[in-house]
Amino acid sequence: MNESRRLNIEFDKAIFNEKFFPAFKSKARWLVLYGGAGSGKSVFTAQKLLIRLIKEPGHNFLVVRKVGRTIRHSCFALLRDTIAEWDMTKLFKIRESMDFTFLPNGGQIFTSGLDDVEKLKSVHRVTGVWGEEATEWSLNDLRQTNLRLRGVMPYYKQIVLTFNPIFGTAAHKMFFIEPPPKNSYIEHSTYRDNKFIDDEYRRELEGYADIDSAFHQIYAKGEFAELKGKIYARYKVIPKEQYPVHYQHKYYGLDFGYTNPSVLLDIGYSDPYKLYFKQMIHEAELTNSDLIKRMDELKIDKRQPMYADSSEPDRIAEIADAGYLIYPAQKDVADGIDFCMRFDIFSCDDNIESNREFSTYKWREDAAGNTVDGVPVKKWDHAPDALRYGTYTHLREVLGKTQTSAGSTHDSLFGKSKF
Ligand SMILES: Nc1ncnc2c1ncn2[C@@H]1O[C@H](COP(=O)(O)OP(=O)(O)O)[C@@H](O)[C@H]1O
Ligand SMILES: [Mg+2]
Repeated sequence: MNESRRLNIEFDKAIFNEKFFPAFKSKARWLVLYGGAGSGKSVFTAQKLLIRLIKEPGHNFLVVRKVGRTIRHSCFALLRDTIAEWDMTKLFKIRESMDFTFLPNGGQIFTSGLDDVEKLKSVHRVTGVWGEEATEWSLNDLRQTNLRLRGVMPYYKQIVLTFNPIFGTAAHKMFFIEPPPKNSYIEHSTYRDNKFIDDEYRRELEGYADIDSAFHQIYAKGEFAELKGKIYARYKVIPKEQYPVHYQHKYYGLDFGYTNPSVLLDIGYSDPYKLYFKQMIHEAELTNSDLIKRMDELKIDKRQPMYADSSEPDRIAEIADAGYLIYPAQKDVADGIDFCMRFDIFSCDDNIESNREFSTYKWREDAAGNTVDGVPVKKWDHAPDALRYGTYTHLREVLGKTQTSAGSTHDSLFGKSKF
């Protein structure tokens, strides 16, 4: 593309999904894009923001998610890649802080987590907002974001929200249960509206029908459904400062993955029946040697027992050879979950991916919506599996025999290693 064509970029069928044309034209204050997974909501929003940035001089867009740490691999990567695809990288300054300046007119895009109060405060005269995965937001998050967008501006002020239809969330209440704010444009989409996805992804989404009916409804059909039948109802996120200093037992739980993430949790047991954990690793595409390297870098304690998926004996043997005290886990799923359900499970804000998995970890529902007893949904279950491998294998033994004794306490999850 030559320079002037590039700067005249418009809604073009070659690069856009037609479904979003009305949303592209919409000047509504609230542009609500909800629906199934892979419908193209996020890509479209990145495209719309960039086109406005290029054509309407003087923007200060704010791109926000609930938790700052999740931005680098989502909104930031998407904006950066879209700029590269449009062959415009030279026209942008992309800063280490994950902010963008469009050099020809000085317009900017800032990215931030709602948890990064300092950064949010530092962005002045916001002219538009993109709230990604807005089902993670509270009503207060939505209200505060609305307040950021005020004053007289040369172009329309718009808050774009993108999310999956999870029943009972603040975004659900604000736009679907109560009458939505007057100036709202709401658009539903599913993977069927996205001409750019491949057959494999399409098949995976259609396959959700066999995994769980609520997941299928939310992520394939894009319809509101409730994630009921939650397995660990006694799961709670607390400030990490409230974690105990000593534990009666310490162990690791490890779930292997490659396409799926590998998850390593550092788990502490405290009387009576309380578990606290810290997510050490939650990362996809790690070979076994990458995983060992990661464990070495993180200075994982080689004397603390670790329990891993017993269906991968070769990986376990290799990790043992590297000096770790690793054992195959007892894997009975129904019994293991039943055992873990008797504990209060405490997590902290840093365990982002694990918290997300635990929040959707539920019993399977059949097509009629009946819970299938003892069968969890096999999807986004990696952290719950790691917790179960460690807990069921280690504590079933020790809690069955002696309770704790003085002098056998183990150190804090946070105390020694700074993070
Ligand atoms: N306009 C587009 N051009 C090229 N690929 C696209 C486009 N829109 C979507 N895609 C492809 O579809 C995938 C899913 O789109 P995404 O926006 O992430 O979906 P959603 O946010 O609705 O879950 C993207 O990862 C990308 O590969
Ligand atoms: Mg998305």
